[in-house]
Amino acid sequence: MDPIIVPKGLAGVIADESAICTADNETGKLLYRGYSATDLAEKATFEQAAYIVVYGHMPNEQELSGFSDFLIKNSDIDQNTESIMKLIPKHTELIDLMRSVVSLIPLDEAKTDKALLEIAAKMPRIASDGRNALSGTAVLGKAEGTYSERFYYLLTGNKDSEMAEHLEKLLILYMEHELNASTFALRVTASTLADPRAAMTTALATIKGPLHGGANDQILNYMLKMDSREEAIKLVDEKLARKEKIMGFGHRIYKNADPRAQFMKNELKVLSKLKHEEKLYDLAAAIEETVWDRKKLPANLDFYAALCMHLLGIDHAFYLPLFASARSFGWCAHYMEQVANNKLIRPDSKYIGPTGLRL
Ligand code: COA
Repeated sequence: MDPIIVPKGLAGVIADESAICTADNETGKLLYRGYSATDLAEKATFEQAAYIVVYGHMPNEQELSGFSDFLIKNSDIDQNTESIMKLIPKHTELIDLMRSVVSLIPLDEAKTDKALLEIAAKMPRIASDGRNALSGTAVLGKAEGTYSERFYYLLTGNKDSEMAEHLEKLLILYMEHELNASTFALRVTASTLADPRAAMTTALATIKGPLHGGANDQILNYMLKMDSREEAIKLVDEKLARKEKIMGFGHRIYKNADPRAQFMKNELKVLSKLKHEEKLYDLAAAIEETVWDRKKLPANLDFYAALCMHLLGIDHAFYLPLFASARSFGWCAHYMEQVANNKLIRPDSKYIGPTGLRL
């Protein structure tokens, strides 16, 4: 077969077929299994959306309650894992702790989809207890309620259904995004027929980079420093003059608008009013306008997500772990799709190094 040379970073390359998700710059639509992701964020529960992403159809009542019960039943971690977390050096980043813990986590079910979902179900507890292990504080007690209520409690120590509902929308939008870098990496690992633990570990390693998930807590670093629209505009211009990337802007697929960002912009408007922080919304809108004016780059989901998480009272150390926890349901779906119709992912490279060297 003649080799095919593809663009660097595989930009614009269709690497495989998938029935899980499609993101389209032209239409500005993001679909999970045919359903609009923003509609799901507006109207569905996290459990419903996760079921759709993983199994490909809207669950009936019985399927939904079975799935929700499974997530509750598998949400805790064993004593050995708790002990391992306490041995991890305190300066470790939480996402690294999560990756290490997931690589060793004991699982009840050998069957692939159950093993994957067991890991996904445990992510919020791993993030919460991991954070406490790193800071030497006591772990939180039993989490109750829906997935997002339990998660909100594990992130903040508070039981608050209203805030959990706002969090739920963000979790749904973070859940899936076709062949993003961590999902692609997971599929490479799955294609070797490595087990779910190994594939999830790969994904957790890949999501960490600032060009993927690791940008979301950096957004607050600059957003919380400004006080006025003028300062916001100046900050953008200074960053661009220094050829610095502005975290929370730009996207491989969305060149006009990220539908998830626009949804969360609306959420920010609601939350900033609720929390009497209207200025934050105005400054964010000013930054968005200026970056678009100067570089024609749209705000991505992380930009508005970070600001919403801030107003939800979530510590910035949890931003990436929260994203990874929600995305782990997308990872489950991709692992299952990869192994169901597998071909080892192993591209070739064009050699540009020396030849004929002699010892
Ligand atoms: N700030 C300033 N300039 C940016 C930018 C940003 N956030 N994002 C892209 N650009 C510029 C690049 O410097 C490049 O300019 P050039 O052509 O003059 O060299 C051009 O826009 C194309 O960017 P590139 O990085 O090649 O696009 P990509 O499709 O490979 O990358 C991202 C997409 C997301 C990696 C990129 O936009 C980025 O790094 N964003 C900031 C990090 C971030 O928000 N990550 C979360 C992603 S959801």
